[in-house]
Amino acid sequence: MKRIVFALVATGALASMIAYMAPASGQADGEAAPIYEIKIPSGYRDWRLISVNHLAGGNLKQMRAQLGNDVAIKAFREGKVPFPDGTIIAALHWTEASSDENNKVLAIGFPGAGLQSSVAESPVNVQFMVKDSKKYAATGGWGFADFKDGKPGTEALHKTCFPCHEPAKDRDYVFTRYAR
Ligand code: HEC
Repeated sequence: MKRIVFALVATGALASMIAYMAPASGQADGEAAPIYEIKIPSGYRDWRLISVNHLAGGNLKQMRAQLGNDVAIKAFREGKVPFPDGTIIAALHWTEASSDENNKVLAIGFPGAGLQSSVAESPVNVQFMVKDSKKYAATGGWGFADFKDGKPGTEALHKTCFPCHEPAKDRDYVFTRYAR
């Protein structure tokens, strides 16, 4: 019995040690995206908010949020460009759905106002921009990566990223502005 208890405590301690070490090492998980060799940065879902936007047209209706790691948030708040090496910006995209649940309550609270609430529904994809001015010198110092369900997009898709971000050259290729 004593031995079993010891084994359990030891395994528990080891497991929590590994859990503790994983985020500290900053290791990314899964398959790397083509061209730029970027993996999904661990812990990105806990990063702070830069801004949100909404995209609609054709048969597309999306809610989007941009999150930044600590380096990104500092640079955005200071309004500094170019962004320093180590900056990572994450763009999370969801399908957008109108919320009957919210609308019913809003109709009671604001009768006749016709308020319409829509919410983020299911994840579509997540994109990253990683600043490394040496490694990605050919693309303005940015590496680009796109993942759907944790799987990277094709090489052809990744070839489209930088050219489309070029119009934002005077803001270091970043479209999103920090929402105060
Ligand atoms: C058709 C043009 C276009 C293409 C192609 C494109 N982007 Fe963007 N990207 C934008 C625009 C416009 C925004 C800001 C508005 C938005 O997010 O809807 C944006 C925003 C972003 C952001 C948030 C930071 C910022 O610049 O605002 C990231 C990260 C990002 N894109 C990554 C990528 C990656 C990775 C690819 C390639 C897989 C890619 N983009 C391809 C136009 C494009």
